[in-house]
Amino acid sequence: MAKGKAKTVFVCNECGYESPKWMGQCICGAWNSFFEQKVASGEAEDRRSRTRASAGDGAGGAAGKKNRPARLPDIVSGERSRLDTGIGELNRVLGGGIVKGSLILISGEPGIGKSTIILQMAANIAQSYGKVLYVSGEESEEQIKLRAERICRNGGEGGIFVLSETNMENVEAAVDEVQPSLLIIDSIQTMYTEDLDSAPGSVSQVRACGNELMRLGKVTGIPIFIVAHVTKSGDLAGPKIVEHLVDCVLSFTGERNHDLRILRAYKNRFGTTSEIGAFEMAEEGLRPIENLSMTFMDGFSGASEGSVIAAVYEGTRPLLIEIQALTAPANIGFARRTSVGVENTRLSMILAVLERKAGVSLMNQDVYVNVVGGLRPEGTSIDLAVAMAIYSSFKGKAIPPDVLALGEIGLTGELRPIQNADKIVKEAARMGIKKVILPKRNAEKLAKESGTDLQLAGVANIAEALKVLALR
Ligand SMILES: Nc1ncnc2c1ncn2[C@@H]1O[C@H](COP(=O)(O)OP(=O)(O)OP(=O)(O)O)[C@@H](O)[C@H]1O
Ligand SMILES: [Mg+2]
Repeated sequence: MAKGKAKTVFVCNECGYESPKWMGQCICGAWNSFFEQKVASGEAEDRRSRTRASAGDGAGGAAGKKNRPARLPDIVSGERSRLDTGIGELNRVLGGGIVKGSLILISGEPGIGKSTIILQMAANIAQSYGKVLYVSGEESEEQIKLRAERICRNGGEGGIFVLSETNMENVEAAVDEVQPSLLIIDSIQTMYTEDLDSAPGSVSQVRACGNELMRLGKVTGIPIFIVAHVTKSGDLAGPKIVEHLVDCVLSFTGERNHDLRILRAYKNRFGTTSEIGAFEMAEEGLRPIENLSMTFMDGFSGASEGSVIAAVYEGTRPLLIEIQALTAPANIGFARRTSVGVENTRLSMILAVLERKAGVSLMNQDVYVNVVGGLRPEGTSIDLAVAMAIYSSFKGKAIPPDVLALGEIGLTGELRPIQNADKIVKEAARMGIKKVILPKRNAEKLAKESGTDLQLAGVANIAEALKVLALR
């Protein structure tokens, strides 16, 4: 494309907003987020119009054509045309497989296993549905082949076409040539379009490539998996705008020195975002974990001070986890509160309730809390277990290893009922738990339903829970 005279614009690193002038604060609220970028004049307008055209394509038209409104019942639903990835845990997180024409972003820290899971999926899809085009801007074809030799065993790898390329225009040409049933871009930060002068990975390149891929997906109906790197703080590197473009945003997390990997959907236009997928990183690739509670409880040493079993309900399955806490006298005036897996504000609230409603003063104590296994549970069902673990460590009294604590703590110290308690109790029984301390309302409801040999101790507030555990 012919380029005119270069012009300077300022682009926000957070939201991608373009301004002709540098601004201290962007309209999205971010401070100091603008950086200078040179673009050929006329290009910005060009890009905007292209974005508009591609957005229009989403409703079924081709570029340049005007879309006509269609009656809702006449629109053919793509729901029935989901691709099975051959990986149960991935299907579950996606809401039942990959919807045709959808754009899926998978993000994660370097080395967590993004390319591995994608290559495993590619082999399965190639075997069931035909060709898969794997575009890698990061690794050479030989590197991908080496990984495939290690992890692909079903013969599907014969249908994977590998392209080591970073130019979007060439990728489109390859898609035309191969006509794959799935396109993989590893990663969006390495791709660039010739229309822009800026370097790959810059906000405008990432946005332009994202737009280009969205258009490609909607026009061809080919589902596209896009790998994206995250910054240290866990945000997607580059503008947030890519997140708005895609249909699903998956996040792959885990402790790098542990084998456990958790896949979670942060946005999903075709399914719930509460499901998680669990994998174990092994020599032959990522192995799905079916008995997740067992994995989290692995290494649970039994009765020790500051350790309590808690449970969460993730997506469609209950999960038992161990909560650990440690209190230690604070050195100087200011006591530390450090938690991994529990939000700091939630921890502060639990500490305040413990102090006011259970008479435990932790003002001069450092408090450390850890959810073992690297999981960051959503929801509040682990509140009681966190409080019990802190109390147990502070008093130096161990809680029996076959006791499960369950419940949300309110500001008045009351225990509020949680959802799916019945399923959690069933899982607890399966895992050898003998006694469950839970909110009174949950206990009453479960007692009526009965059918469990577990001892259910319904408690109304945090002080009662401490009594039941004979901690005070
Ligand atoms: N031979 C092996 N045996 C066991 N695990 C391996 C082996 N080779 C690689 N791995 C695991 O695979 C991980 C790298 O996976 P992968 O390349 O899929 O990550 P990635 O998220 O794509 O990384 P990047 O951000 O660098 O692209 C390593 O951190 C390691 O845990
Ligand atoms: Mg990779």
